[in-house]
Amino acid sequence: MCGIIGEIGKVNVMGDILEGLKKLEYRGYDSAGVAVFTDAGVRRVRAVGSIAALEEKLRNDAPAGTLAIGHSRWATNGKVTEANAHPHRAGKFTAVHNGIIENAAALKAEYFAGAAFESETDTEVVVKLLDRFYTGDVGEAIRRTEAVLTGSWALGILCDDCPGTLFAAASGSPLLVIETGNGRCIASDAGAVQDPVSVTKLENREYAALTANAVTIYNEKGEPVQKAPLTATAGALTLDKGGYEHYMMSEIMQQPEAVRRTLAAVPDEDYIRDAREIVIVACGSAYHTGLVGARLFESVRRIRAHAEIASEFRYADPLIGPGTLCIFVSQSGETADTLAALRLAKEKGARTLAIVNVPGSAIATESDEVILTRAGREIAVATTKAYSAQLAVFYCLALGKTEALGRLPEAIYTAIAENDEKCRRVAERIAGCRNIFFIGRLLDNAVSQEGSLKMKEISYLNSQAYAAGELKHGTISLVEPGAPVIATVTDETILTKTASNLHEVKARGAFTIVIAAKHLADKIEADLTLTVPDVGPLLAPSVAVVPMQLMSYYTAKALGCEIDKPRNLAKSVTVE
Ligand code: F6R
Repeated sequence: MCGIIGEIGKVNVMGDILEGLKKLEYRGYDSAGVAVFTDAGVRRVRAVGSIAALEEKLRNDAPAGTLAIGHSRWATNGKVTEANAHPHRAGKFTAVHNGIIENAAALKAEYFAGAAFESETDTEVVVKLLDRFYTGDVGEAIRRTEAVLTGSWALGILCDDCPGTLFAAASGSPLLVIETGNGRCIASDAGAVQDPVSVTKLENREYAALTANAVTIYNEKGEPVQKAPLTATAGALTLDKGGYEHYMMSEIMQQPEAVRRTLAAVPDEDYIRDAREIVIVACGSAYHTGLVGARLFESVRRIRAHAEIASEFRYADPLIGPGTLCIFVSQSGETADTLAALRLAKEKGARTLAIVNVPGSAIATESDEVILTRAGREIAVATTKAYSAQLAVFYCLALGKTEALGRLPEAIYTAIAENDEKCRRVAERIAGCRNIFFIGRLLDNAVSQEGSLKMKEISYLNSQAYAAGELKHGTISLVEPGAPVIATVTDETILTKTASNLHEVKARGAFTIVIAAKHLADKIEADLTLTVPDVGPLLAPSVAVVPMQLMSYYTAKALGCEIDKPRNLAKSVTVE
């Protein structure tokens, strides 16, 4: 959460900084700001809201310089105000920060009791510390500051005395040092920088000094270190909207390709060999793919398996150890709870395998083994193509690369083509409702969890997913006349059971929608039926999720919601 960028070049870097911030906006969009070294010293410009608001402010008064830093914020400490927007400044230091300083209040009390602060942020404490510890050597000020900080940080730092040097420091939050044809940059994500030539990751408590001619990286003792640049890049599936109005729709459309590339890239290896049991740990949509994965491991491979929410798992003292395979699923590879859960699993001696979309990310790096999904960069906050790519990996792990799996990209394409227009029309009906319910059994339930999250995340309508048989144990009291109940039915063996549950809600006035495998469509009654290709019950989540994504998208659109950047959210969740 929060995106940071900085550049030192030979010509004005402000264009690059603003372009970079737009690419980082997925990490937070509460406010944005820049600081640039001008002939008259460091100038800051900050604005509440998106980068567009910052650009508007810069339109008539655009400071220029060859050294600048920028920030897009997802508020953690302090309200969404201009005073809390980064960069923050104290004495001779100006900085942008991603992360959380957990002991900010204690540091404030110890070092700055009674002092005036212009913001409510933890970052201002860091900048004040840098200034307090500065005696002419910025490296020393960084080391002394980092020595008293606890929490996580990625910092881009300017010092008034050093108009030719961009400083950076990191611990626990991602920060890359990137060389390009034009200059030297720091960024939370390599995608923020045009044409990177080499990308190096700052490890915990390393810091860097970048000048127009050189980059030096230091360890926490202040000794220069030689580091190998990362080789893998995020793998480009289109970064623009591909002619669509929103990234989310463009990314829905990219799913067949994301799955095809992922299937091709998963090594032919039996990763679950020797596992006595499997625990899949993740958050949000990634956790939902784990629900599918766990079911597949149990039903097909007959290995005990379950999925756990990372924020629960990490504090639950889980019963794992040698013999347990822990699989961590994450698009960003940065999610704080998933990363902490991975570290815990390693401590307990479990074997760890990560399924990650961003190469070089913390989770990809720290896991014993990693399988990279090839969804390319995902910009919309609501995941679609990364979810589908993660499912594809679980299929490879549980089923092996079958012929049917090879045909899945084509089936996903058909699911999109055949449902796009229908879902737009269904969405108009859904948009007027207060509560939406998703039901299904087994894998149909697992995918319904994702459908429901997608719906509430971007349309802000209240939506819940339930195991179809569970509804009558309480939740059915919420079903009012006209409430949409969306049942997924892709497995003939349980069709009649879900059909009965649908009758129960119909009897209470619900508006029933079925997402059915094509060959089952005539066997279940509903007010409205959407069909998906017959890929068999095991692979069905990959096609059933498509109409769910489309219905969510069009519902949010009908309600005029900010689809790519839903309120209160950020793409990578680096706080717990
Ligand atoms: C929902 C969504 C989130 C993420 C979750 C985990 O659309 O995208 O629920 O799935 O925050 O993020 P990663 O996969 O980056 O660990």
